[in-house]
Amino acid sequence: MNALIDIVSTAEPTAVTPHRFRDVLGAFATGVTIMTTRGPGGVRVGCTASSFNTVSLEPPLVLWSLGLRAASLGAFRAAEHFGVSILAEDQRDIALQFARPAEDKFAGVALREGIGGVPLIRGALAHLECRIAARYPGGDHEIMLGEVLNLERRDGAPLVYQRGGFHGLRGL
Ligand SMILES: Cc1cc2nc3c(=O)[nH]c(=O)nc-3n(C[C@H](O)[C@H](O)[C@H](O)COP(=O)(O)O)c2cc1C
Repeated sequence: MNALIDIVSTAEPTAVTPHRFRDVLGAFATGVTIMTTRGPGGVRVGCTASSFNTVSLEPPLVLWSLGLRAASLGAFRAAEHFGVSILAEDQRDIALQFARPAEDKFAGVALREGIGGVPLIRGALAHLECRIAARYPGGDHEIMLGEVLNLERRDGAPLVYQRGGFHGLRGL
């Protein structure tokens, strides 16, 4: 009961500072994905994203959002397809590698090619190959809606992101 009162009493618009928003959203545990595409000239492009989620079963739709300041934004805007690699527990180094700017984020990463030449991360728990169905403005991010054209998964434990850190399911 006290917890409920606390939520109600802090729900004033002024309480939603970016710092508090981040802090509170840190309570929401997500999986970790690498979003990939081919940029102009066929260059491989990718970034780490935890904003991935399902939208619709029929038709099969997923979404994720990309920051307007991301270097990869132009490539994803111009692309017809993107790939989703859902990372396994032992792939936190890959999550970090794709979250930092680098000349070649794909260096040393085992890949295979999906629809449209989109690179997919080997060893991931699952891959979804998508056609970009729509893009929507989302504040300081752009929301990408993808129609799933192909997908596969294997058994294994996922990498989990919560409160700014990586975890295995058993570590939470
Ligand atoms: C676990 C994790 C999840 C992230 N999720 C997102 C996300 O959903 N959307 C986003 O725009 N950036 C996200 N980021 C930050 C991007 O990965 C980071 O800004 C990256 O440098 C963007 O790549 P780019 O600038 O080459 O496009 C996340 C970072 C981490 C570590």
